[in-house]
Amino acid sequence: MSRPTLISHPFDIVVFGGRGDLAKRKLLPALFQLDRENRLPADGRIIGASRGGMDGAAYRALVEQACHDFLPAKAFDQVTWERFSKRLAYVGMDATATGDYAELKQLLAGREEFPRVFYLATAPDLFGPTTRSLHEAGLITPATRLVLEKPLGHDLESSLEINAEVGAVVSEHQIYRIDHYLGKETVQNLMVLRFANSLFEPLWNRTHIDHVQITVAESVGVSGRWSYYNGAGALRDMVQNHLLQLLCLTAMEPPISLEANAIRDEKVKVLKSLLPISNHDIGQLTVRGQYRAGAIDGKPVPGYLEEEDAKSASNTETYVAIKAHIDNWRWAGVPFYLRTGKRLPQRCSEIVVQFRTPPHFIYPESAGPFPPNRLVMRIQPNEGIRFQMLNKQPGPGDLKLRQTGLDLSFADEFGTVIPDAYERLLLDVIRGRPTLFMRVDEVEAAWRWTDTILRSWQQQGIPVKHYTSGAWGPSAAIALIERDGRTWHEED
Ligand code: BG6
Repeated sequence: MSRPTLISHPFDIVVFGGRGDLAKRKLLPALFQLDRENRLPADGRIIGASRGGMDGAAYRALVEQACHDFLPAKAFDQVTWERFSKRLAYVGMDATATGDYAELKQLLAGREEFPRVFYLATAPDLFGPTTRSLHEAGLITPATRLVLEKPLGHDLESSLEINAEVGAVVSEHQIYRIDHYLGKETVQNLMVLRFANSLFEPLWNRTHIDHVQITVAESVGVSGRWSYYNGAGALRDMVQNHLLQLLCLTAMEPPISLEANAIRDEKVKVLKSLLPISNHDIGQLTVRGQYRAGAIDGKPVPGYLEEEDAKSASNTETYVAIKAHIDNWRWAGVPFYLRTGKRLPQRCSEIVVQFRTPPHFIYPESAGPFPPNRLVMRIQPNEGIRFQMLNKQPGPGDLKLRQTGLDLSFADEFGTVIPDAYERLLLDVIRGRPTLFMRVDEVEAAWRWTDTILRSWQQQGIPVKHYTSGAWGPSAAIALIERDGRTWHEED
């Protein structure tokens, strides 16, 4: 059954970095998928742009290969490909050189009133110069949307520079800063869970919640991106953006409406309330790790320093754990434990809210143990929600309580395959819906807090602690939470 097209007007998307890794892995397959689901209008065009000549036929072949490589086999079909390939064009150009824009201008001429998306899937130091060139070439129309991929800078200072350069020629409402976690269905569901149900909100505060854990674990290594990754590390690559966005959605106050700025206002308040981590407590509140060779799923994997393109020494962290505090009325004294790492035993992203134990306990020791209630929001994979609670084990013998779970699996409940985050995000850019993108002050507030950690690590010379691939990070990360009498959540 064909679905209704969600966009009724023509559009153009120009992907700078159109032959790059992100375009091939994510953007072009996601656009193909949207076409396959009948989400795109007939007159929607996709123009790849990057340095180096290539004719249209060669570009179409590259995109077809990318769709085969990065989509499940059953998500590709020839009928859609025939239609999709007609949308594609390619321009060989240096996006930072104003003199290189003639061909692109010609392609876009006469379509000024339609949404025009410039997607900068390039290194962040090109964001400013590319935007300036687009402006000088006269291509920024009122209907233009500029999409910036992460990383949005390397630290607060570089992020401020990028925002100033881009903001000098494009208005804030036309800038779409991507954090692809916001496009994940389960992340969008966090707000629905909290604000469309009356059960949770009265309990969602320091009176009832003991602590929160946010885990984004990956089993992959640096996947052929050693040079980029080595200059970034897990804090910049994952915490500054994805984990902090998850933290914001978990901790923010109810927004006054679903309007983009109403939600962003509340997220910014959370980021501004994060207590800076200083030289004094950096050793107590953070752990940096780096993976060594080991095994995942029974298969041997190399260490970080043995990966393709690796140098022989590096102090870059591939794992980070942080005990963070949100210094506001709702969350005073409630720790937020964050952890993320590569080459961990499994891919697993989740948010765990642990509730306090009952104030007065009437059950004898012999009926235990009595683990506290936990609400587990599984972001990926096995998307769903689980509530862990105690129940009486049936039977006439001595009283025994057992931890049991109320379990909601999105796949079972909704019977649908969860789409890739980029499908939703690309659709929203074309439709002009900015809610799932970051406002300038959000990015800056996230960098401001992250910078305090980076600076303290540097000033204190905090080294990485090694962990074996396939383990849950360095033992210091276990100690970080266990010295508070708590444990990292493990699915049973
Ligand atoms: C990216 C990081 O932003 O997110 C990668 O740069 C990481 O290092 C990826 O692997 C994880 O995304 P996902 O959607 O697979 O959880």
